[in-house]
Amino acid sequence: MPQQATEKALLAANWKMNPVDGGEAVDLVRGVMPAITAATESVEVALFPPFPWLLGVAEVLEGSSIELGAQDCFWEISGAYTGEVSPAMLKGWCQWVIVGHSERRVILGETDDMVARKAAAVLTNGLSVIVCVGELEDHYDAGRSDEIVTAQVKASLANCSADDSSRLVIAYEPVWAIGSGKNADPEHAYKTMRLIRRVVSELIGAGAARKVRVLYGGSVNAANVESYVELPLCDGCLVGGASLKAEEFAKIVKVTSEVYGHR
Ligand code: PGA
Repeated sequence: MPQQATEKALLAANWKMNPVDGGEAVDLVRGVMPAITAATESVEVALFPPFPWLLGVAEVLEGSSIELGAQDCFWEISGAYTGEVSPAMLKGWCQWVIVGHSERRVILGETDDMVARKAAAVLTNGLSVIVCVGELEDHYDAGRSDEIVTAQVKASLANCSADDSSRLVIAYEPVWAIGSGKNADPEHAYKTMRLIRRVVSELIGAGAARKVRVLYGGSVNAANVESYVELPLCDGCLVGGASLKAEEFAKIVKVTSEVYGHR
């Protein structure tokens, strides 16, 4: 019996602030579409381009099973919030929003409270959310990963309920593994994802928690993705840098579909 929340793996492609050119964004989507389409029976894929490219990418994806998401949003629906984007504005063409990415927490000072408000706003607007959590390198070195991740999960999900479980995804992304080429040891990832499931169970109840998906993220590539997606309790990966190279991301999709196809 697979212990994962769903039969399909979830691969989320976080493009971050790339590419700078909108035409390249469209080329990237066209480059990965055949591999994703070939794997739809076993892999669900969501692409997260920067805000200005969402519309163009949505047009290319129309009629396909590939999902689309934003990398962030605000917690209010409308009003005097210069520069912010509301989940209600994304609803027309996005199915997903990422909140609490460590780059936002570390570089822009986003707090757990802000992340909790954003996660709730995404869910209230009928979208699915990926809430990112993960410890810094100092915490990892000091053996404090469990403590930090537990606190982040509790605080970031403070406004979520059992009813949200099937639209709630938690990405465990150790900050030291992001963009560093130092992907986490699968054993460490597994133990932390198991802890996350336990904490979510305490928060929303065991039945609902079983529907919550948990991903690993941090220097995932075609050569190491198998070591994560084959882990029990791991529902897929959040991929950054490697999702910007069409060939590499296509391989990630293929390897994942092979692992899930054999279940
Ligand atoms: P990376 O980024 O795959 O480039 O490490 C992952 C992420 O930040 O989501």
